[in-house]
Amino acid sequence: MAEEDNREEKEEEIIINPWSSKQFADYGRLMEQFGIMQFDFRKLPGPPSPQPPAIFRRGIIFGQRGFSSILRAIEKKRPFVILTGLAPSGKMHLGHKMVIDQVKYFQALGGRAVIAVADFEALAARDVPLEDGKRIAIEEYLINYIALGLEPENTEFYFQSSRDAVKDFAYIASSRVNLGQMLALYGFEQSTSIAHIFTPLVQVADILHVQLKQYGGPAPTLVPVGVDQDPHIRLTRDIAQALRIFSVIKTKDNRYGAFVRIEENVEAWLDRAEAVAAKLGFSKLKKVPKYKALYIEDMVEEKLEELDEEIARMEAANGESFHRFITGLTGEKMSSSRPATSIFLTDTAEEAKKKIMASKTGGRESIEMQRKLGGEYQKCPVYELFVYHFVPDDEELNRITVSCSEGKRLCGECKKEACSLALEFLKNHQEKRKNAPARLQQYFRDNRT
Ligand code: TRP
Ligand code: SF4
Repeated sequence: MAEEDNREEKEEEIIINPWSSKQFADYGRLMEQFGIMQFDFRKLPGPPSPQPPAIFRRGIIFGQRGFSSILRAIEKKRPFVILTGLAPSGKMHLGHKMVIDQVKYFQALGGRAVIAVADFEALAARDVPLEDGKRIAIEEYLINYIALGLEPENTEFYFQSSRDAVKDFAYIASSRVNLGQMLALYGFEQSTSIAHIFTPLVQVADILHVQLKQYGGPAPTLVPVGVDQDPHIRLTRDIAQALRIFSVIKTKDNRYGAFVRIEENVEAWLDRAEAVAAKLGFSKLKKVPKYKALYIEDMVEEKLEELDEEIARMEAANGESFHRFITGLTGEKMSSSRPATSIFLTDTAEEAKKKIMASKTGGRESIEMQRKLGGEYQKCPVYELFVYHFVPDDEELNRITVSCSEGKRLCGECKKEACSLALEFLKNHQEKRKNAPARLQQYFRDNRT
């Protein structure tokens, strides 16, 4: 309530709650407040590399932080990881599928996929017992992922509750953050359980543990998430930085430098950083052990990140991309726990049809008005189905857009079209699900699921 009253003054401050069902309105403000950069799909590699899926061209993948390190890895054919996770509660829906579409695309560009089953998160934040979480994860998510075409050669699944390295890392990460920071990030309440508060640290560990030697070793990591996950990502970056040996920055007096953040072996570390900088072609290097500094006088702004990454080879490096949310069919955020909002990947033809036919649209009050004014496709969840999933061809999408806005297309027929595309997808997909369970075990490298 108090928040409501102060809304005027509070305009500046958004606190994202990853566990709420709120739909975001103002992506521009989010980006500004949290330093998310625009995602420029034109920087993605052109032919002969595979084409990016339509969600990149259409501004659905709208933001990124540090994505250039992934582009560099693609370009230099260096290893990179694409890492995501799922909290197993409820059913897998089309919103979840978008992440897998991205995973597949980046795999085709050379990435290795690691997928965390966040059974701890489901327990702590959604009260799903671990046993149920396991079952839901397998039946609802992993089987669908396999059916969507993830291959075991470059895909690995694991459960948070079964991977000791993740649990250990979460514990260590938690020693680098205090309660005040957590409250500022998430706005927890008195009634929030400690396990729930700890959940983001496990996610941080999901993201960072792949830097450990036995899980692949240092490599840039792309984390494709909905922007609701941004607090976790910011926390991850802070903790990754806190666990670093160096900070590589431009100082307040405009000098570029790599600064040792620990007390031990400072000179040895500076020597190593010097070697890295020299290898990248920098020659005006000045070590000042007293300041724990290596100054790089011939550094230019554009090269700073690359140097940082090279210096971080033995430490954690990560990047992430953010996608918008598909609007639920009822106008809210698509959610596993509210079936009417979402098409589930396991819906029968009748269920899917019923939901689409009952969906909100951008239609007008009457047919006459719609003919005259046209539909408001910008507000229409049915239109979003076309944009996000069912009409990959841009020209075809454009025909739908134009016919809607000119009032030539009415919502009834339009929904029927959406139904037939959805049913075709579901039929195809559900056929592929059939032999997925037999392949499941191939995706786990931990001996237990
Ligand atoms: N918190 C995520 C969700 O609610 C799931 C998740 C767990 C995750 N670990 C992750 C996502 C690591 C990205 C990266 O959907
Ligand atoms: Fe939405 Fe189609 Fe109606 Fe336009 S015609 S508002 S796209 S349902």
